[in-house]
Amino acid sequence: MCPHIDGSRAGEDVAEKPAIAGGKPVRETFLQYCRPSISEEEIDEVSEVIRSGWLTSGPKVVEFERQFKNYIGCNEAVAVNSCTAGLHLSLLALNIGKGDEVITSPLTFASTANVIVNVGASPIFADIEKETLNIDPDKILESVSDKTKAIMPVHYAGNPCDMKRIMRIADERGIEIFEDAAHAVGAKYARKRIGTIGTTTSFSFYATKNMTTGEGGMVTADRGDIADKIRMLRLHGMDRDAWKRYDKGESWYYEVKYAGQKYNMTDVQAALGLVQLRKLEGFNAKRREMAQYLNNKLKRISEVEIPRSTKDAELVWHLYPILIDVENLTINRDEFVKAMLSENVGVSVHFIPVYRHPFYRKTYNFKREDFPVTEWAYERLVSLPLYPTLKKDDLDDVAISVQKILEYYKR
Ligand SMILES: Cc1ncc(COP(=O)(O)O)c(C=O)c1O
Repeated sequence: MCPHIDGSRAGEDVAEKPAIAGGKPVRETFLQYCRPSISEEEIDEVSEVIRSGWLTSGPKVVEFERQFKNYIGCNEAVAVNSCTAGLHLSLLALNIGKGDEVITSPLTFASTANVIVNVGASPIFADIEKETLNIDPDKILESVSDKTKAIMPVHYAGNPCDMKRIMRIADERGIEIFEDAAHAVGAKYARKRIGTIGTTTSFSFYATKNMTTGEGGMVTADRGDIADKIRMLRLHGMDRDAWKRYDKGESWYYEVKYAGQKYNMTDVQAALGLVQLRKLEGFNAKRREMAQYLNNKLKRISEVEIPRSTKDAELVWHLYPILIDVENLTINRDEFVKAMLSENVGVSVHFIPVYRHPFYRKTYNFKREDFPVTEWAYERLVSLPLYPTLKKDDLDDVAISVQKILEYYKR
C-alpha cells in the first residue's frame, strides 16, 4: 500500500519517514528559500551616498547606467525603479494601447501581463514549451493577429527563450519585442547578452534577483530615440531630470513632453547596484556551479525532471525549478511543498499561471484547457533554493529532502 501525506502506511520496510509523516527533519534549522548576497562593500557604498546629500536620481544612477550598458554591450540603458516599470514604459514608448494585442507567456509573474492591461491593450497568452517552460514560438504563431503589436518573451528562470524564432516571427510582421529579463541578467543567447536582442529588454533588481538594488530595474535598447522617450516617461515626461536642473551652471527650466510616470531609480539604489554589478559574473558562476551540483544529485531520482536549457543559451539560473512526477506519487505538488517545509527546506512555486488569477479569469474568460502545457507544468513545478551564499551541505540537504519525500510517496 502507498503511504499518504498524513503518515499512514502499511509496512515499515519502505523508505525513511519524511518529517511530515513523523520522521526526523533533514535539517535542524530552516533553510531560507532565497537570500540576497550583501556585504560590507554595499553597505559602505550606500552609506557614502546617504552622507553625500544627493539621494534621488543623480551621478550614481548615471554611472550605474554607463557600467550596465558596457556590461550588456547595448547602446542604451535606462535605470528605473522596477522591471515592471521598464516593461510598462516600453509599451508606452511605442504607443501600444487600446485595441492592440500583446503576446506573452502565461508562466510568469503577473506584472508582465498587468502592464499590458494597464496601457489598455489585451494580453494574449501563448502556451509554453514542455522542455524549457519558455513561451512556445509555434504557439506565438497561432496567436498572432493583425492586432498584435508586441511580443513579451519571458526568460523563465534565467533560461533565454528561442529568440531566433521569436525575432523572425516579429521581424516578418513588424512586431516589437519587449523582453522580460527579470530573471536573466547576465544570460546569453547565441553568444550575445540578453539585453541586446529585442526592441527593449527589462531587467529586475528586486531583492531576490541575481543582482539587487532592493527594488529596481533597467531597460536596455539599441535605438536612442526609444531610450530617450523612456528616459522622459520614467520621470513625469519631463525633458530634464533634477540632477540636470540642480547641478552647477544648469538652468532650473524644464518642460513636460508627455504625461509620464514616476519610475526613476535613486542614487541609493544605484550605489547598491554598482557594487552588485561588479559581483554579478561571480554570482552567476556560483549559481551555475550549484545548479550543476543539484542536477547531478537529482538526475538519479526518476520522479524528478529538470527543465532543459534552450539551444544556444547560456543560463543564469535565477530559479532552480524541478517538475515532480505527480502521476507516480501519492502526493500532489502542494503536499510535496508542505513536506519540504517540514524538512526545514524553504521552497516556492513559480508561477501561478497568470490566466488562473481572478482578475484575468473574470475579465478575459481565459480557460485552463487552452494552456495544456502550462497546466501540466503548474501541477508539477517546485522551485528549490539556489543562491550564491548556499553551502555544499545546504545543497545536499535540499537533494536529500527531495529524494526522501519522493521515495516515501512513490506509487
Ligand atoms: C518574470 C518576472 N517578470 C517581471 C517581474 C517584476 O519585477 P519587478 O519586481 O522588478 O518589477 C518579476 C518579479 O519577480 C518576474 O519574476
